[in-house]
Amino acid sequence: MKTIVIGTLSLIVTVGLAYGSAAEGKGLYGTKCAACHGANGEGKAAIGKAFGVTMAPLGSKEVQSMSDADIKKVILSGKGKMKPVAGVTEKQADDIAAFVKTLKE
Ligand code: HEC
Repeated sequence: MKTIVIGTLSLIVTVGLAYGSAAEGKGLYGTKCAACHGANGEGKAAIGKAFGVTMAPLGSKEVQSMSDADIKKVILSGKGKMKPVAGVTEKQADDIAAFVKTLKE
């Protein structure tokens, strides 16, 4: 009996860690991403211009078709003109990726 309880608990903990929390990610997005990507992921025209790129809205099909792992990779390793975002842990990147997936155009 005890084993079953412990087994179930560790399963919940494992699943909880494997998936990011969009609620946690929302606040982090606001401090780490919104300055460039806008409050709703629409992308700031001035930033795109400064980097010489067209920023795809985060709610676009293009970005929404990325896996959470791909989005996490962009956050932690950067992509194209976007530099890796400083001060973001693996767990926080999971949370932010989960939040990005809630954005719609
Ligand atoms: C300093 C400005 C800046 C910050 C801060 C920033 N980004 Fe970006 N991001 C960019 C730019 C510019 C691009 C486009 C890069 C390119 O196309 O070369 C981009 C691209 C992306 C893409 C890929 C979109 C595509 O077209 O493939 C994702 C996803 C993304 N950012 C998510 C995030 C998230 C999540 C955060 C916060 C953790 C964040 N970015 C923080 C500037 C920023």
